Amino acid sequence: MYDFFLGGKDNFAADREAAEQVMAVAPITREVARGNRAFLGRAVRFLAGEAGIRQFLDIGAGLPTGANVHQVAQGVDPECRVVYVDNDPVVLAHARALLATDARTRVVLGDVRGPDEILTDPDVRGVLDLSEPVAVLLVAVLHFVHDHEDPYGAVRALVDAMAPGSFLVVSHVEYRPELLRGARPYDRANAQVAPRTFDEVTRFFDGLELVPPGLVNVRRWRPDARVLSEQLGPGVPCFGGVGVKR
Ligand SMILES: C[S@@+](CC[C@H](N)C(=O)[O-])C[C@H]1O[C@@H](n2cnc3c(N)ncnc32)[C@H](O)[C@@H]1O
Repeated sequence: MYDFFLGGKDNFAADREAAEQVMAVAPITREVARGNRAFLGRAVRFLAGEAGIRQFLDIGAGLPTGANVHQVAQGVDPECRVVYVDNDPVVLAHARALLATDARTRVVLGDVRGPDEILTDPDVRGVLDLSEPVAVLLVAVLHFVHDHEDPYGAVRALVDAMAPGSFLVVSHVEYRPELLRGARPYDRANAQVAPRTFDEVTRFFDGLELVPPGLVNVRRWRPDARVLSEQLGPGVPCFGGVGVKR
């Protein structure tokens, strides 16, 4: 569905049908998807550039159409290493085909609700050195994890495993009562949506220092200099932020 919202071609009839239903009740969803994807690109460029990060653990990676994390990071420095994790076998098959020839990029079947399995996975350990700074990306994935599945505990386990100087990137759909109807078609999908408030999303950064501008609407997170503020348009109901572990 996400790939369809982004205008990609890697989606099936059932995805398109459910995505059309979401669009019918919450047309802003396409803007959320695009705003989120653009935020991801800017965050990775910041991390590989200004922050000097060379290894990335992207959980709930999705690998939809184009401009994926490894392409953005390795565009800054070809030495960047990336491990993608997703719990959807279809994503895995697609990703493996896309990455078959890339030794610095791996894809692993894993679930954000099982951080210890991710952190001890031989493929993750084979590519990433967790004694060195890493960027852990949880972009548009935590809103698929419900409170009873302990998303805060999962994030804490990941943060605990990060070396000082590491970064956590989170984007998350905002809780707005008027948008809940748009989440209903996801009830039949493989992941249901659990939107959260600003304070609830901020809690994912406990123990970290948010880098400026903090947790903001994804469109407002370090917009490209060439985009004038009046061209940014209204915000979308999705928060994004980057925290650093000191
Ligand atoms: C909306 S896409 C986000 C893709 C990418 N991170 C981005 O922001 O462009 C969400 C992805 O998270 C994956 N996902 C959902 N629940 C997950 C879980 N519990 N563990 C790992 N991945 C999950 C889905 O399969 C999907 O590929």
